[in-house]
Amino acid sequence: MNLTRDRILAEMGFDPLWKRRDAPRGSGDIPAEVQDQPIVVDEPTHADMATGLNVSGLRGADEELGWDELISRIKGCTACGLCRERKQAVPGVGDRNADWLFIGEGPGAEEDARGEPFVGAAGKLLDAMLAAIDLKRGENVYIGNAVKCRPPGNRTPEPEEMAACFPYLKRQIELIRPRLIVLLGRAAVHAVLAEDRSLSGLRGKTLSYRNEGEGRDIPVIVTYHPAYLLRNLPDKAKAWEDLCRARALMRETSGG
Ligand code: URA
Repeated sequence: MNLTRDRILAEMGFDPLWKRRDAPRGSGDIPAEVQDQPIVVDEPTHADMATGLNVSGLRGADEELGWDELISRIKGCTACGLCRERKQAVPGVGDRNADWLFIGEGPGAEEDARGEPFVGAAGKLLDAMLAAIDLKRGENVYIGNAVKCRPPGNRTPEPEEMAACFPYLKRQIELIRPRLIVLLGRAAVHAVLAEDRSLSGLRGKTLSYRNEGEGRDIPVIVTYHPAYLLRNLPDKAKAWEDLCRARALMRETSGG
């Protein structure tokens, strides 16, 4: 499939709000108002979710698990009640050496049935969002979730469920070593940054996640969850700003 950018934006419902400017300044089609915003690097905000380490399927030396064992632990996990109603756990999908890591909330019905994240309506929008910044699922992109099992009725995962699942995500981040993490929605922000502030208070900043395995802070961009955007069309323009900021940051850190 070879979609033009305008077609992609139109499919995302960003047209005309997200119309490419005729004479963008400097960095491609990043809106001028986004280019002008300073990039703020906050202190690391991730609080150690120690309780999760005790109740999940990972603890102690297990934290050193490689991919195969990690995936098999996720698939057999019974660390929280979500395991009772799942068809299957959904570990994540994509390039295991990706520069980009996108993290959502948790599998929905379709993801639960197919074992892959973001394959339903929200996933279609996520794919379009990726395409709008020249990314593609599986190519230098890994997609995961705050919880690996479907919350019944697609409810928001409870903090305890996210804490129980966090060691898996933490190990995935250690193995992937992404250059940038994009958090989709409030649950992902809560799981990864242990941050309860509203999305509007976190968007537009560059936050950071301490990747202990690497001894490095990974920049984090926060944006709206695609399912939210499907219900709140005007906020797509803000999501576009966030993605442009993410892309600019990635270019900056890779020197081009
Ligand atoms: N929403 C999510 O947060 N993750 C999925 O995998 C699907 C929908």
